Amino acid sequence: MPHTRSKTPSSYISGWGMSVPEKIITNQHFSSYLETTNDWIMERTGIKERRFAEVGVGTSEFAASSADLAIVRAGLSKDQIDGVIVATITPDYSFPSVACLVQEKLQLKKGFAFDLGAACGGFVYALTVADSMIAKGIAKNILVIGVDLMSKVTDQNDRSTAILFGDGGGAVVLSATTPETGDRGILSSAIYADGDHSDILGAYCGTKNPYTQENIAKGEHYLKMNGREVFKIAVRTLTESSLESLNKASLTINDLDWVIAHQANQRILTAVAEKLAIDQDKMLSNVERYGNTSAGSIPILLSESIDQGVVKQDDIVILTGVGGGMTWGAVTVRI
Ligand code: UT7
Repeated sequence: MPHTRSKTPSSYISGWGMSVPEKIITNQHFSSYLETTNDWIMERTGIKERRFAEVGVGTSEFAASSADLAIVRAGLSKDQIDGVIVATITPDYSFPSVACLVQEKLQLKKGFAFDLGAACGGFVYALTVADSMIAKGIAKNILVIGVDLMSKVTDQNDRSTAILFGDGGGAVVLSATTPETGDRGILSSAIYADGDHSDILGAYCGTKNPYTQENIAKGEHYLKMNGREVFKIAVRTLTESSLESLNKASLTINDLDWVIAHQANQRILTAVAEKLAIDQDKMLSNVERYGNTSAGSIPILLSESIDQGVVKQDDIVILTGVGGGMTWGAVTVRI
């Protein structure tokens, strides 16, 4: 169901942070053992390099470190955090949740913690949930984290997917607005899913198709994707939900400063900017450096863009994601 907010925002982004592994994997890494080239990868995806987490390092590491930064930037103490929502499809364990591991790592002693699984659309979903909880008075400050270690679920011998994905995450603190924050905050949201497309992008091991030795030997646990189909749906849904969220915020394309879309492929970003009829410069991108980090991509780009002084206070930004499920959505925010 779409979700609409009134014109006075309930919550705003009070802090932000990002965290990626140190290890850089260049396109040459893949061309050294797969039938692929740097030219093909650059031309078809715009990706030059991505980060891979080391063996034995879990998703919660990057969730916690980006969250720590976000809490500091928000100027809050840890006991002011009322809850943690982590958008991820690559948790450390089946359970407990990454959110609970973040609570433990940062010693957040109160409130709720849960993970939300909406694949690459997850961060926009999580923001929408957190904003609604703040609007309802359930919480004042919520850590909203988007993080995935996609290298851990990707078949590194499948050239059609191995080259695309990377690891990392980002976080924001969403806080209740005050008279001082004025018009800043989450202005509107539109989130959707279409389970009829559940067969074109996923990692199909679980209760129905267990992690048996046989299934693992066949690579059943790895991500599978029909790239061409996903590409078409991504361009359509990112465009439609962006326009819908803008419209719900009673804004037009002319009011827009930036679009921060899920970083899957530079060609998708270019196509969406064309369809929205915005200047390509307004479609921010760092896919060249991080590849597709799934739920991590939007908060990583948002954090980087604020840190670099590109996105500034009071700018109107659309955050829009799409992923396996298929899930998609957009949030319009005044920073
Ligand atoms: O995060 C969730 C959202 N995910 C996405 O949005 C991903 C969306 N999809 C895409 O970004 C693109 O579809 C891909 C980058 C995955 C693929 O690009 P494409 O232009 O759609 O290529 P294609 O799948 O149509 O494949 C074209 C050719 C094929 O060969 P044939 O059948 O034409 O002989 C592939 O086998 O390119 C081949 N190919 C490669 N060649 C060199 C596929 N991967 C590679 C590779 N290197 N790494």
